[in-house]
This record gives sequence, C-alpha cells and structure tokens, in this order.
Amino acid sequence: MVNKKEIERRRTFAIVSHPDAGKTTLTEKLLLYGGAIQVAGAVKSNKIKKTATSDWMEIERQRGISVATSVMGFEYNGVKINILDTPGHQDFAEDTFRTLTAVDSVIVVIDAAKGVEPQTEKLVKVCRMRKTPMIVFINKLDRPGKDAFELLDEIEQKLGLQVIPLSWPIGMGSGFKGVYNNYFENLQLFTPGKQVIENSIQFSNLSDPELKTYIGDDAETLRSELELVHGVYPEFKKEDYLSGEISPVFFGSALNNFGVKELLDIFIKIAPTPLGRECDVRFVKPEEENFTGFVFKIHANMDPNHRDRLAFVRVVSGTFKRNTNYLHVRQNRKLKFSSPTAFMAQKKTIVDEVYPGDIVGLHDTGNFKIGDTLTEGETLHFKGIPSFSPELFRYVVNADPMKSKQLAKGIDQLMDEGVAQLFVGKHSGRKIIGTVGMLQFEVIQYRLEHEYSAKCRYEPIKLYKTAWFVSENKTQLEDFRARKSSQIAFDKEGREVFLSDSPFALQMAQEKYPDIRFYFTSEF
Ligand code: G4P
Repeated sequence: MVNKKEIERRRTFAIVSHPDAGKTTLTEKLLLYGGAIQVAGAVKSNKIKKTATSDWMEIERQRGISVATSVMGFEYNGVKINILDTPGHQDFAEDTFRTLTAVDSVIVVIDAAKGVEPQTEKLVKVCRMRKTPMIVFINKLDRPGKDAFELLDEIEQKLGLQVIPLSWPIGMGSGFKGVYNNYFENLQLFTPGKQVIENSIQFSNLSDPELKTYIGDDAETLRSELELVHGVYPEFKKEDYLSGEISPVFFGSALNNFGVKELLDIFIKIAPTPLGRECDVRFVKPEEENFTGFVFKIHANMDPNHRDRLAFVRVVSGTFKRNTNYLHVRQNRKLKFSSPTAFMAQKKTIVDEVYPGDIVGLHDTGNFKIGDTLTEGETLHFKGIPSFSPELFRYVVNADPMKSKQLAKGIDQLMDEGVAQLFVGKHSGRKIIGTVGMLQFEVIQYRLEHEYSAKCRYEPIKLYKTAWFVSENKTQLEDFRARKSSQIAFDKEGREVFLSDSPFALQMAQEKYPDIRFYFTSEF
C-alpha cells in the first residue's frame, strides 16, 4: 500500500509575483519557519535580479545557485512543504509555466503600492486555466499603498479572481497598526522595525470596547470595514478554494515577517494535498500503488566537462524507489537510477524513496526532455506541459563549419531542456529558434560555445507566431500545405506548424481554410 499518511502530509506549491513584489523575501521567511535556513539573505542569491539583457552572464553564474533552490523542501508542524522556485525574470516565463504544472497550489504576492502588475496577470491566467487553488498575499503594508478595498477590486477585475479577505489591515504605511485575522479571529499588532514572529491576541468579539486599548481610534474604522467585508464577500469555504473558485487574501509585510506565520498556518490547513494528474489514457491518482511521474524541468550541469543534467520529476503516484527499473515511456526503455536526489532544506541528498507531491532529481545524460513520463510499465503520457507559440524568432546559422555535429547536438539538448523551441523549415531545411525573451538567444549562443564548443550566429526572420494546425478535411489541408509550403516548418516532435508573418496573414489563413484548426499551444 502506498503510504497515505505521507501523501496527506505533503503540500507542494509555488510563489508567483511580478518582480520586486516580495516573492524572495516571503520564500525566505517561510524557510526560516521551517528551520530550512538560519539567516535571512540565504535565498537572495537565487534571484535573477532586475537583470538587464547585457547582464546575462550574471544569470549564468546564478544558474548554478538556482539548482539548489529550484525546490525547497522543509518540515513545518509535521507537514512536508515543497516550494518550487520560479524564475522572476519575464524572459524565463515559459520555465515558470512549466513549473506551475508540477505544483498543487500557488501563493500570489502583490505589492500593496503597485497593485496588480503585468507579470502577475500572465501567471495567474495560467493558474486559472488549470484551476490551481490560489492564495493572495498583499505585501509591503508597512509602506504607503492603495486602499484595501481598492486592491481587492483590482484583483477581482484584473486577475479575474473571486476573493475573500481572511485578514484585514489596520491602517497602512506609517500608520500601519497590524491586521485582524478573520480565520483565527485574532489581532496581530505591528511594531515598526521589529520582526514579528508570534504576537497575536485572540479577539473574537470585535464590539468589545477593549479593542480600543490595542488600536485606538482605528477600532471604529476596523469594525465598520469588517462589517462591509462580511456584507460584500461570501463566507470562506475550503472546498471553493480547493476547486479554484475563490481565493483567500491576506495582508502583511514579508520584510517585517508580519502576517507570514499566519499565512503558513492557514496554508497548511487549507492547501491541497498532492493531486492526481490527467494523462492521455486516464486520470492518475496519487494513492495508486504504482509509481508514475513526469519531468517538468531539466537543469544542465554548470561544469562544462560533465554534460550530465538534472531532470526534475514530480512524483504523481506510488512510491519512487532508488535502483528500481522504470519505464521511460517515450523511449520505451527501462532506466534505473542509483542516485536520485531529494531536495530538503536547500540541500541535495540521495534518497531511497520519494512520495507523491515530492520532486526527485534524476541525473541524466541526455535521455530526458520536458514532459517525459516515467512509470512502472504502463504506457501513459501526462498531459498539461504544452509548448506555447514563442514570441521572438531568429534563424540559427552555423558559424564554424568544422563543428556542425557539435552544434546540432547542442541545439538538440538545449531544446530538450526547454531553453527555447526549434522549428525546421519544411522546404528550406533552415533552423529557426523561437523564444519568449531576448535573453535566451544570448544564453543559447553562450552555452553552445562553452558546453558544446560550437558557434552560431543569428539571422533575422519576419515571423509573428507559429501555429500548430490540424484538420479532418484532407482537401483543405493539402491545398494549404501546397500553397504555404515555404511557411510550414516542423517542430521538434515532427509536427507541422504554420509560420505566420503577421496577424493579418494568420487571419487570412483562418478565413480561407475554415476547416483547419490553428493552435498556439502544442497541446490540443
Ligand atoms: P521579488 O523576489 O518578488 O522580486 O522581490 P524581493 O523579495 O526581492 O523584494 C523586492 C524588494 O522589496 C526588496 O528590496 C525587499 O527588501 C523589499 N520588500 C519585500 N517585502 C517587503 C515589505 O514587506 N516591506 C517593504 N518595505 N519592503 C519589502 P530591495 O531594496 O530591492 O532589495 P534588498 O536590497 O532589500 O535586497
């Protein structure tokens, strides 16, 4: 039997935010509670900070550090918590989307002064599509910010989330006195400049005149605001949160460690235990006997002399065991892992058994690519790790004819890692690299040179989007293929994509071939 207890005590989630909202600071405070780190600042180095394009060498350096912090596991009150780190830099958005497939819930951090920012919108959209339960943490209450009701309205409108505040701020900025927690019915008082670890006063009857002794004249405002809150927002129900229909909201200040412990305490009570996953043939439940898992991230080794990589596998069901044969479904062959890695307290250790919800790191010499499934023998493929149409495109050209093999291999492996997407022109045979950010082009060039001794250069291509296309109407399909042959390419799996050079061209194609369906993600 699968150890049900182990499943039930696990919570796997990611923190997402627009850069600078406080994701790193919050992560760090959570790790401090779990005893995973001892000092503040330990996670900071993981950050790809506001890096300008020219500063991407720094990113390369940090890649090494980020392996250690890709998954941060720790124990808190008997619960095993896994935080999956997502890169803050928007050029790595696709990395973040893929990581979101491996979590069961998300905490969204919003800066109280800035409100909802573009990157948050994008990420929340992906979570909403997947119905991922989301908790919102409104941060930086110690600074002047927007009004709480205004913020909640903005979240509802811009993020499309139905919110329920479970805590409520008392003042803001220099007048910030603390929060009232609706869930635990307690008052937490804020002392500027002091890191609050535990300082709550049980206070269930807000009409009690004693409230004034704690927060002075703000007592009246708090009472009337909470009355409004109760009138406007529905009652919190855990089921609604778990089904992704409502999102509880908390207010606090990560930097001051204020509201963080409460967030964590409620999180472990309400956040989902490891969920099953849909695959091409059925739904896989975590408590199933047999092990299944999928690769959602691949990290290249920093040492150019060793081309081995670390594949991050989310365990979906059963128990992953060391030195056991598993089926690599895509390659249809058995693989055994002698040193699977678990991620605890930012340290990597070799483990014998890994349970659903956990992430296991597998050393790989080039067998894996993103989305690969491992099982005990069953032929199934997990769904939900699509490639999206890239936004930027370049032809990639070999700059050293003596090294064409190395170049091909390098490009192949970097694409497996999910650094970018490769398309090969059906007619021309030319290679096109598509990315979501400019940075990737430089990263690819640098890594090809340093890890594969290959040189490449880029040439411009006028391309708007790549669209995967299918149709049951063979005549239309053949006509489209014939007329657009110079604008058709193959993706890495050999599937056809239409290279449209403008929104207009795409629209024309859609109108002319109504029976052809065009898709902007590879999974449809
Ligand atoms: P990110 O990972 O979302 O990009 O944000 P990060 O935690 O790095 O926080 C961004 C900045 O906001 C940092 O300041 C951090 O100290 C600050 N910050 C985070 N939480 C709070 C808060 O509750 N109140 C206030 N006032 N500031 C907060 P920085 O100056 O950019 O970086 P650093 O020099 O402190 O490292």
